[in-house]
Amino acid sequence: EIAGGRLDKPIDVKGGGEISALVDAFNRMLSGLKNYREKLVASEKLAALGQISAGIAHEIRNPLNSISMNVQMMEKEGKLDKESLRIISNEVQRLKLVMDELLNFTKSQASSPTPCSMNDLMDEVLGLMRRQMEHRGVSVMKDYQDSTEVRVDTNRMKQVIMNLLINAMQAMPAGGEITLQTETLARPDGGKVVRCSITDTGHGIAEENAEKIFQPFFSTREGGAGLGLAICKRIIEEAGGVLGFFSSEDGATFRFDIPAHAAENP
Ligand SMILES: Nc1ncnc2c1ncn2[C@@H]1O[C@H](COP(=O)(O)OP(=O)(O)O)[C@@H](O)[C@H]1O
Ligand SMILES: [Mg+2]
Repeated sequence: EIAGGRLDKPIDVKGGGEISALVDAFNRMLSGLKNYREKLVASEKLAALGQISAGIAHEIRNPLNSISMNVQMMEKEGKLDKESLRIISNEVQRLKLVMDELLNFTKSQASSPTPCSMNDLMDEVLGLMRRQMEHRGVSVMKDYQDSTEVRVDTNRMKQVIMNLLINAMQAMPAGGEITLQTETLARPDGGKVVRCSITDTGHGIAEENAEKIFQPFFSTREGGAGLGLAICKRIIEEAGGVLGFFSSEDGATFRFDIPAHAAENP
């Protein structure tokens, strides 16, 4: 019913810990989406709605399938399996990130920056996506030059990294390679920035789409919500950076510079 557009019917599931947090987040997302839908209707953007619902359904269906498969397997075997439990916990994490992303888009929460290393954030997201990448024949190269700290809202920054990795993966349906790079650069004013790049070996971005990819609801993917890059751009700008990209026939690179933490920026 929700996928069909009924956003006024929260899910009622009793459960402990992560699952109930997830249901909570989902219900909050529904009410956020409901508000957002009302605004969209008002601005005659009805056509976008079908796209958003399809996008959301897709982002939620995959992890739910994987959770359900692993639960069924354990039911059949009659015992708990460590690897299955790990997958389930990863998928729940992934759903949470999807929810957070949608919630962020529907309502603007205050950002809460903390000192952290971009390398650690990248590794954390890679940990969540490792299996999915292996499954799709995507290998990962890391080129971390140092670990200068930045001060960012870690959840939002993880969403950015995850979005960029998902896009990279989707641009390589037959597999390929993703390179994650970080380096610290000196700014002309004496401060420092941490430059982060995510490069893929996918189909790249067509010239005629270059201007559009950061616009909300622009997508060349079937069922794509077209919100990923719009959200990434907003989060990076909020963190004091700029999100840009290069594209060639060898693939695409998305890159952003984040100011180093004050301790590194006298
Ligand atoms: N790494 C990439 N390689 C090629 N094209 C990309 C890449 N990342 C984004 N794009 C293009 O930008 C569009 C918008 O991306 P995004 O905002 O994440 O929305 P969605 O993923 O839902 O399509 C994509 O549909 C695709 O055409
Ligand atoms: Mg995307």
